[in-house]
Amino acid sequence: MNQEILEKLKAEYKQLFQNVWELGGGYGFRYHHGVRVMKYCQKIAEFPRFNGENLNVDALSVAALFHDIGKIEAVDKNGQLIYGNYGGISHDALGAKIVPKYLEKYIKDKELIDLICLIISEQESKTTPTRIESKIIKDADRLDHYGVLHLCCSITYANYQKKNIEGLKEFWGGDEGKNKYEANFSKFYFPEVKAIAEKRFKNLSRVTGLMFDENEGLDL
Ligand SMILES: [Fe+2]
Ligand SMILES: [Fe+2]
Repeated sequence: MNQEILEKLKAEYKQLFQNVWELGGGYGFRYHHGVRVMKYCQKIAEFPRFNGENLNVDALSVAALFHDIGKIEAVDKNGQLIYGNYGGISHDALGAKIVPKYLEKYIKDKELIDLICLIISEQESKTTPTRIESKIIKDADRLDHYGVLHLCCSITYANYQKKNIEGLKEFWGGDEGKNKYEANFSKFYFPEVKAIAEKRFKNLSRVTGLMFDENEGLDL
């Protein structure tokens, strides 16, 4: 796939999500997350372990960019993405259903679109992926929450709860924070990606700890 088509797909995705906001990430988060996951996937695809694996990099890139497209259906009239509001199915199954209408404008290869749909549907947590591309996206998606960038999500989350540093503390110490991320290390498919997540998570833990230390004046 040429870069021009990929840029058009990025522009399409940006237009969909730039005015959408969510508790964990604020305005446009879903667009930036999609672009990051795509970049990570393209880099992971270059890892030596995938030499000779015959990955479909076009399907990988587009499915990575659009992997959360199903969430667009859960945006309310105020532009807020309401988590879990996908009409009784997962956002992955929903995404696989609706994504062709966005892709068909730019991609004429029906088989490629079908493969992209399959890969998006395989992002569902209960599904066992049949494609390596699906596993790569799952790892890249997970990785995107392990580093210092995750602070952006924690800060907006606290802000929307009308809280400040105490909101950040509640988030980090609660079920969705530190403990969840530590428990989820075992879910990575590829040890190389897990190692990057571990490195990122150390940074995140350190930076978060420093913030709390400064808040208490513990560094004085
Ligand atoms: Fe997702
Ligand atoms: Fe995601």
